[in-house]
Amino acid sequence: MIHSRPDTVSVIGLGDMGTALANTFLKAGYPTTVWNRTARKANALVNKGAQRAASVAEAISASEVVVVCVLDYAVMQEILHAAEDILPGRLLVNLTNGTPQQARKTAAWAAACGAEYLDGGIMATPSMIGQPEAFILYSGSAVAFDAGQAILNTLGGSQYLGADAGLASLYDLSLLSGMYGLFAGFLHATALVGTEKVEARAFTPMLTSWLKVMLQVLPNLAEQIDTGRYDGAVESNLSMQAAAYHNILQASREQGLDPGLMTPLKTLMDQRLAEGYGTDDLSGLIPLIRKPTMYHTS
Ligand SMILES: NC(=O)c1ccc[n+]([C@@H]2O[C@H](COP(=O)([O-])OP(=O)(O)OC[C@H]3O[C@@H](n4cnc5c(N)ncnc54)[C@H](OP(=O)(O)O)[C@@H]3O)[C@@H](O)[C@H]2O)c1
Repeated sequence: MIHSRPDTVSVIGLGDMGTALANTFLKAGYPTTVWNRTARKANALVNKGAQRAASVAEAISASEVVVVCVLDYAVMQEILHAAEDILPGRLLVNLTNGTPQQARKTAAWAAACGAEYLDGGIMATPSMIGQPEAFILYSGSAVAFDAGQAILNTLGGSQYLGADAGLASLYDLSLLSGMYGLFAGFLHATALVGTEKVEARAFTPMLTSWLKVMLQVLPNLAEQIDTGRYDGAVESNLSMQAAAYHNILQASREQGLDPGLMTPLKTLMDQRLAEGYGTDDLSGLIPLIRKPTMYHTS
């Protein structure tokens, strides 16, 4: 049974993110115990007042709230399975990046161990933790979220998405999909303009302004996606966009670049055009993504 206001926390995993989490709990005045495979990474935190645990079991025993932030779920499982006897009554908060299925499986395992479980997705870099722009998504036990909210709020804004433990990672990976699409475009754009010796630093302000304008298009695309009306309020039809997109690929080759980051979208455009939807908007690619037949890689 968790206290309604737990106020002791252990952080397992002191990579860049785990260290930022532990630092933030310490700064907020919470008694904080830390453990990391490579023990020396705890030294700076211990100098600031954290307790060093000699083992994972000792870290779990020391606190009511146990935050785990390691590389992936395989590592998380390896670490925690050896200490499942002491999990009952703890609030386990897993901030390790993973998939919805991994989160649901871990929630079932934690429940069988007698622990309250919250799965989380950190929407911040380590330096943002504890700052107003950081937010963290949570899903899983509502009881756990209510109990842990005060302590977890020190890390950034907390958003509880529901009892299905898989929701936090679903939203997290969806947000990261948007981010990596942006980063891929940024890399290709700077490489393309850079073929004429334009520095990325010089070009980035113009790209940023352009992207801010283009963000205004998203609500209309979202409306088309939700209604299934891919031909609604179309300003930039797919035939036109595919022709311009073809020029991106051709110019990239002509300038001596590998267009590989950009080609998958063209493949989808061409398929949709071949199906006769040239007057639809780009949102019309959604049915192809929902029926994946082309990409079966990892
Ligand atoms: N950094 C970010 O910007 C960011 C943002 C959002 C979410 N996240 C998520 O936060 C989690 C941690 O990221 P990070 O930036 O802290 O990564 P990191 O700096 O690479 O740290 C990885 C952590 O995992 C531990 N680890 C790896 N393999 C292990 C093993 N076999 N046994 C025991 N421990 C092992 C490392 O221990 P050692 O120190 O002993 O190697 C270290 O504590 C990831 O799931 C990541 O996706 C990170």
